[in-house]
Amino acid sequence: MVNAEKFIEEAIVEIKREVGTQRAIIALSGGVDSSVCATLAYQALGDRLYPVYVDTGLMREGETETIQKAFRYMPLTVIDAKARFINALQGVLDPEDKRKAVGETFIRVFEDVARQKQVSYLVQGTIYPDIIESEGEIKSHHNVGGLPSEMEFNGVVEPLKYLYKDEVRQLARALKLPPEVSERMPFPGPGLAVRIIGEVTEEKLRVVGEANAIVEQEILSYNPWQTFAALLEKGTGVKGDVRVHGWIIAVRAVQSRDGMTASVLELPYDVLRKIASRITSELSDVARVVYDITPKPPATIEFE
Ligand code: XMP
Repeated sequence: MVNAEKFIEEAIVEIKREVGTQRAIIALSGGVDSSVCATLAYQALGDRLYPVYVDTGLMREGETETIQKAFRYMPLTVIDAKARFINALQGVLDPEDKRKAVGETFIRVFEDVARQKQVSYLVQGTIYPDIIESEGEIKSHHNVGGLPSEMEFNGVVEPLKYLYKDEVRQLARALKLPPEVSERMPFPGPGLAVRIIGEVTEEKLRVVGEANAIVEQEILSYNPWQTFAALLEKGTGVKGDVRVHGWIIAVRAVQSRDGMTASVLELPYDVLRKIASRITSELSDVARVVYDITPKPPATIEFE
């Protein structure tokens, strides 16, 4: 992509041409790809675009509010599907099974809305690396090829499919999307489900979500490519004078170009100490905090 303004103009013309006078739907995830895509499609189609945000309960704290604020000028439909996702994840332990459970539930929820809205086109924020990765089947990324062969659309519109992430960010800035969107870290489709070892429960989601907010507050100013909290198992600790069996939180902060390889961010020790102290004091049921010092490979960036 040479010129963001030119790309935007041409993409809008192309979306208008493909969708014609029909209606289209797009799933907004809060990520930069779907946000840019929705903005382009909205400029092309106006109120014939139905942007939908599915609240899976697997997102970061405050995500739903950020999206509602950033897209308040669009007719955004927010669907509270938290209960459906937690039910689908009950008893699911294997990482790939979790991805499948999240992906399938997402499709089912999305199908219901698409049917209600009587849309004929699907707009998707697929980018070039998504296509490459899903061909390699490294992990079953649910934002690719995921949307539903059973769903009957006249067509799928993917305006970003030849772009890389940094180009999409360039578009986001040119479209004047807020920095929380344009500079947002990558976030996995299955969300916090791959940042919780083993079964996903409401308690674990609450703990990892709160720990993650602290990690972001303390680490974002060091410009990591990605940083987050993950929840491991329970371990023994001592709080006050009492031995407790509390959660173990792992902190991850990495540098990377494209997520294929990653190195660990060498944070000042003071920062790590402060994070451990804040998480264990602000979250009564966390007994221990560890910093993951493993590059990718051999570790992956996510824990599952
Ligand atoms: P890993 O953990 O494979 O992550 O080193 C590489 C990059 O991909 C993201 N990731 C995912 N994204 N669905 C997604 O949409 C997934 O299932 C998934 N798993 C990992 C991860 O956050 C990192 O940016």
